[in-house]
Amino acid sequence: MNILFIGDIVGRVGRRMVREYLSTFVEKYNVDFVIANGENATHGKGLSRNHYFELIDAGVDVITLGNHYLSKNEITRYIDKVDCLVRPLNLLNEFGGEGSAIFDVNGIPVRVTNLLGSAFMTESVNSPYLSILDLLAEVEEDCIHIVDYHGEATGEKYSFAYAMDGKVTAVLGTHTHVQTNDARILEGGTAFISDVGMTGFNDGVLGFLKETVVPKIVYGQSGKMQTPDDGNGIFSAVIMNIDENTYKCKSIKTIKYIESEHENKNN
Ligand SMILES: [Fe+2]
Ligand SMILES: [Fe+2]
Repeated sequence: MNILFIGDIVGRVGRRMVREYLSTFVEKYNVDFVIANGENATHGKGLSRNHYFELIDAGVDVITLGNHYLSKNEITRYIDKVDCLVRPLNLLNEFGGEGSAIFDVNGIPVRVTNLLGSAFMTESVNSPYLSILDLLAEVEEDCIHIVDYHGEATGEKYSFAYAMDGKVTAVLGTHTHVQTNDARILEGGTAFISDVGMTGFNDGVLGFLKETVVPKIVYGQSGKMQTPDDGNGIFSAVIMNIDENTYKCKSIKTIKYIESEHENKNN
């Protein structure tokens, strides 16, 4: 089975990238199932109901979230009414929806779990490790299990991945918005990458307009970081080939598609 996982989709450009390019990658890599992190899909923070449906209509099968799970309040009104949305499992507060869900993909069970990291994150969370151990103890089924580990620290992501090696199919890092060059299969057959990267506007800061970020970060001015309506996009993802009998990952490969590079080639 081939599973495509798309890194944090940011704003309007990110959603356009998914609409415009996802089907090409699905065809090229013979993809059976598409998971995407959508925590930044609505103006850079959160996921509105409309944008949830926009991504599902574009071919995404399951959307995961992250620290911005609640940045658009309306999610509290629709999260329990939709089937393909997975929010962080290890929240301290009571929240609707599910932190882990199982999907039937051509008769093969595929579980998707979303976890928030604890290092250098502003949210307090339950231990990601203890939370997933509780989950695994609760759900006894054997299945493909893809974990979106949404965190800041690469060391924490590595440590978690080694701790889960052989217990889940993949630990895929999200949140930093920059694709790392370390995709690998660990000894026990678990696929890992520190960060899948970002899908959105490529010529700014992590998907946001640099004109709205530099004054804030460098000069300490106040203001709202904004995502642009249009511009040169990047599509960041990983494609995994998974053994349908052992549920272990056979290969993981990064995809980084930058529109302007391909336009240049065509000129
Ligand atoms: Fe993000
Ligand atoms: Fe995040």
